[in-house]
Amino acid sequence: MTGGGHIVLTIAALALAGCQQPATPTGARASFSLDGADYNGVEAKLAHGKRIAVLLGCEACHGATLQGTNVSADEPEMGDMNAPNLSLLMPRYSDAEFERALRQGIPKDGREFWFMPSEGLQFLSDADMAALIAYLRTVPPGGKPMPPLKKGPLFFRLIETGEMRPAPEIAARFRREQPADLGSDHAYGRYVAMLVCSECHNSKLQGYVDFTPDLDIAGAYNIEQLDHLLTTGEGLAPRDLGMMRSTVRARLNRLTPHERAALIAYLKARAERPQ
Ligand code: HEC
Ligand code: HEC
Repeated sequence: MTGGGHIVLTIAALALAGCQQPATPTGARASFSLDGADYNGVEAKLAHGKRIAVLLGCEACHGATLQGTNVSADEPEMGDMNAPNLSLLMPRYSDAEFERALRQGIPKDGREFWFMPSEGLQFLSDADMAALIAYLRTVPPGGKPMPPLKKGPLFFRLIETGEMRPAPEIAARFRREQPADLGSDHAYGRYVAMLVCSECHNSKLQGYVDFTPDLDIAGAYNIEQLDHLLTTGEGLAPRDLGMMRSTVRARLNRLTPHERAALIAYLKARAERPQ
């Protein structure tokens, strides 16, 4: 009796879901969370959300007040990679629509979506996502809307070579191609790498030609040296690591010591894996 009713309801719900856009994507979210996701109370939840917004670059690209920036301002050939004013947009997004933008690379207005790194963000756990959304909703609206993203000549060339693809396509590739799985001892460190490092070091951490090295380079470092790199941005050689250095100083230094240790152990093990 109740079973039958349940089935009817389920079918009705499925039919309903079929005519709407699926609001909450399935799939890629990890069963791991960043440290602090076991928050108790609103304050701890917001603090956790704030750390995620810094660590994962929302503030680096969308601006410290989330009022938007042109991410490619120092590279005019790329065009204008305008990261929108999230402080104005958050009130218009439901939680489910926001998750879809982050996890699937489909913004609320459904436009083709470029440059926004859904490929790593799709792996956020539900607890991390909830804290991030809660925090972003506390940022006061301000500033003006950003103009739309504008593709320049270099951007079009990168589309032709396949290096630049719409966000949903890159996200799908990152679900198919993942960093080496080195067993349960290294699962957490691997997760941190997928969430935090893959944005620039690619799906399997193999690097991007003319941009970033394969993280096998971690094999040349010892644990203390990697810890130094990930807290100061200074590498083994005395040269300035450029974007890696500035990214550590702006974002990556927000990893907790526990997250950093797990990540470093994974990177060392990955560098030493049999090929
Ligand atoms: C590397 C830079 C970069 C990072 C990091 C980044 N974004 Fe974005 N984001 C963009 C760009 C560029 C767009 C606009 C893409 C477009 O219009 O095709 C965008 C668009 C968005 C949109 C869609 C807004 C709209 O127009 O409806 C949301 C929501 C968003 N980002 C949230 C976030 C959050 C939350 C984070 C952190 C977890 C984040 N972004 C990290 C660059 C970035
Ligand atoms: C925003 C982009 C970006 C992110 C995110 C990023 N990196 Fe990098 N990384 C770079 C770039 C660019 C280089 C190349 C720097 C150079 O050679 O000048 C680099 C280089 C490196 C190197 C080599 C340093 C050397 O001795 O040559 C290591 C190791 C490294 N990154 C580790 C990491 C780890 C671990 C993470 C995640 C916690 C990470 N990176 C996240 C951009 C990034």
